[in-house]
Amino acid sequence: MRKIVILTGAGISAESGLGTFRDDGGLWSQHRIEDVATPEGFARDPDLVHRFYSARRTQAAKAVPNAAHLALAELQRRWSGPVVIITQNVDALHEAAGAEGVLHMHGVLAGALCTACGHRWPAPAEMTPQTTCPACTAATARPDVVWFGEIPYHLEEILTHVQEADLFASIGTSGQVHPAAGLVQEAAAQGAQTVELNLEPSEISRAFDIRRLGPATELVPAWVAQLLRPEG
Ligand code: APR
Repeated sequence: MRKIVILTGAGISAESGLGTFRDDGGLWSQHRIEDVATPEGFARDPDLVHRFYSARRTQAAKAVPNAAHLALAELQRRWSGPVVIITQNVDALHEAAGAEGVLHMHGVLAGALCTACGHRWPAPAEMTPQTTCPACTAATARPDVVWFGEIPYHLEEILTHVQEADLFASIGTSGQVHPAAGLVQEAAAQGAQTVELNLEPSEISRAFDIRRLGPATELVPAWVAQLLRPEG
């Protein structure tokens, strides 16, 4: 059990106070995806989209990592082989917990991207349609997050890690958005052991060898402790 690859979703940050998307009262019950999470929505009303992400950026900046984030960082430090964390989340709670090399396949709230020159820089707390790019000075800043219909980041690297995984874990995701939702099939197809740690059954639960239901702050520390025990 040398290489561990972990996919996380909004559920791992729920107990840090950050809303998920599809649970009751989730973000997609408060906003229409087509208005705030598509290139078309941004083109139609950039001010609405900037206000949506500025509010999430402010909330995420106040959040603190929970026991699940901390346990994964400890696993990275103490495990005998590589531990790769792939996240669909745009918050920085894995990094705040001490995790390294986290692959944000849907981008990061803390990033700004220039649609004119492609420059990336740390996003100001309040980004607006008037926010200018420090490189080309055009007022063409957008949140550096991946919207529906766009290609996720780090895909080639992610697929390589999944192909090499001995153990693949999915934590806090409903398994409704591809390509993230298909990674477990890739892992299982090459012989990895697969485990799902989630509050409720997900769209992809049946693809896993092991499924544990419960809050991440209980399941993840227990799972990491079990892996780190000498008998493993
Ligand atoms: N502990 C563990 N799991 C939890 C907890 C918790 N405390 N709270 C909620 N969950 C689980 C829910 O049961 C659900 O399966 O987390 C999952 C959250 O699902 P979604 O809200 O769909 O979030 P996610 O799977 O990360 O969404 C994937 O969709 O909208 C896009 O880009 C967005 O990255 C996001 C992607």
